[in-house]
Amino acid sequence: MKSIKLIIVLMLGVALFISCDSRTQQDLEGIVTNPTYTKNIKPIMDAKCVNCHSQNGQGNYPDLDTYQSVVDAQNGTTSSSLLCSLLSSSCTSDRMPKSDAPLSNGSINTIKNWINNGYPEN
Ligand code: HEC
Repeated sequence: MKSIKLIIVLMLGVALFISCDSRTQQDLEGIVTNPTYTKNIKPIMDAKCVNCHSQNGQGNYPDLDTYQSVVDAQNGTTSSSLLCSLLSSSCTSDRMPKSDAPLSNGSINTIKNWINNGYPEN
């Protein structure tokens, strides 16, 4: 009986440790002052955008699955800016991510910082 309790306590400890160590989650929610594409922007795109915005996705709107494609989406190589698409439906027919909750303030401000800093890659 005692050893079962011990095992349960150990398992809870491991679960807690794993959840606290979840970097991606932290990146998705906190504001990062000096973000880079690889560390901070790609995880947001991977979690919220590439499902639709990649070559294997639906339609022919911009890819968001490489550094250059995300920079181009913001720079106006495509018709509407990435940041604008996140904030309102005034530049895309729906606010992005389409059919999903808006990105957290942390994510949006991290993307703003990344743009203002000139799109650092790594
Ligand atoms: C469920 C699918 C889906 C998801 C998820 C999604 N998009 Fe979109 N996106 C679309 C579609 C469809 C369009 C085409 C225009 C429209 O319907 O508004 C579009 C258009 C855009 C455009 C405008 C392209 C242009 O040429 O005007 C941008 C920028 C954009 N999305 C960014 C994003 C970002 C950034 C995310 C993630 C935060 C995201 N999208 C998530 C489906 C999606």
